[in-house]
Amino acid sequence: MARRIIVTGGAGYIGSHVCVELLRAGGKALVIDNFANSSPKALERIRDIAGAGAELLRADLADANDAARIIDAVKAFRPDGAVHLAGLKAVGESVAEPVRYYSVNLPATFTLIRALEAANARMIVFSSSATVYGDLNASPVDETGAVGPTNPYGRTKLFIEEMLNDLARADARWKICNLRYFNPVGADPSGRIGEDPNGVPNNLFPFIAQVAVGRLPRLKIYGDDYPTRDGTGVRDYIHVCDLAAGHVAALDYLAREKAPGAQCFNLGAGKGISVLEAIAAFKRASNRDIPHEIAPRRAGDIAEIYAKPDRAQKLLGWRATRTLDDMCADHWRWQSENPNGYQD
Ligand code: UD1
Repeated sequence: MARRIIVTGGAGYIGSHVCVELLRAGGKALVIDNFANSSPKALERIRDIAGAGAELLRADLADANDAARIIDAVKAFRPDGAVHLAGLKAVGESVAEPVRYYSVNLPATFTLIRALEAANARMIVFSSSATVYGDLNASPVDETGAVGPTNPYGRTKLFIEEMLNDLARADARWKICNLRYFNPVGADPSGRIGEDPNGVPNNLFPFIAQVAVGRLPRLKIYGDDYPTRDGTGVRDYIHVCDLAAGHVAALDYLAREKAPGAQCFNLGAGKGISVLEAIAAFKRASNRDIPHEIAPRRAGDIAEIYAKPDRAQKLLGWRATRTLDDMCADHWRWQSENPNGYQD
């Protein structure tokens, strides 16, 4: 069983939940984070929740000047492998500044690979995204679905997956899981860690939560004329704690398999939920009004995508267990107890 894990981006929304899951399972974590879109406070709270802390290396994986320091620290930690979440992730920004996205997300991965080579720990669980499927597939989509991301952010995810696949083909010592996340929402039930987006949120749940808490006046529903059951967009929301458990299941799988090569898994709940259904559920959980209005469709959006998560269930023994009501209750607890995120 893998016990000593590098977590790049470990102070971020998903990374902090992955750390809690790893530490609770008795593992050790070395977080590598530059706090570009995260707070050191998350690490203190991880310690409170998990009863044990993660080690921290404050460094920028994409900065060549930090590479030697990162490689030394990774070697000294004697890891079994890594969960790789560090990277830029804003879709709109990636359309405006594509080269920045390529020049951060790819080099960060090169440095991690070099460090793991040096530490003789050739195992990576990579944070990929359902965004690699673009709008090419009918749902539910499985891992054999056609890929074709519609923006540079999604392309960096796909290119890194392909690079890791090549790495595993070239050298059978490498063990890789590419995890394609659907839409992570919710927070640890303690309400101590959660999503704290920079500026006005782009994604549905953080936006709803900020409307519910009174930080934003009203939600725009981007289109009610999609060919879905109520006309609004349908997505596969997955509780971030379920998602975090999927990483530990993937690490266990890689550790126990002799020569898994590179594998790819959808991590989703396998259920489509519309924007109107999400709003109704959040309203129930928070007991607050969510003022909303219908707005035009958002450029680049698709009508519907949700996962067929069977492969992860079969090979990783993992499936999402938390409900939409759990997601809303936990997201609301984090938002209402930390209305300004980690700034409070
Ligand atoms: C988006 C990204 C995806 C990224 C994911 C992270 C795009 C095209 N895709 O996915 O690459 O991995 O976030 O979770 O941006 N909605 C509203 N009002 C809002 C915000 C969203 O109606 O203010 C609707 C959207 O139209 C969509 C649904 O809510 O139907 C979910 O949107 P969002 O949370 O942004 O996720 P995705 O678009 O699925």
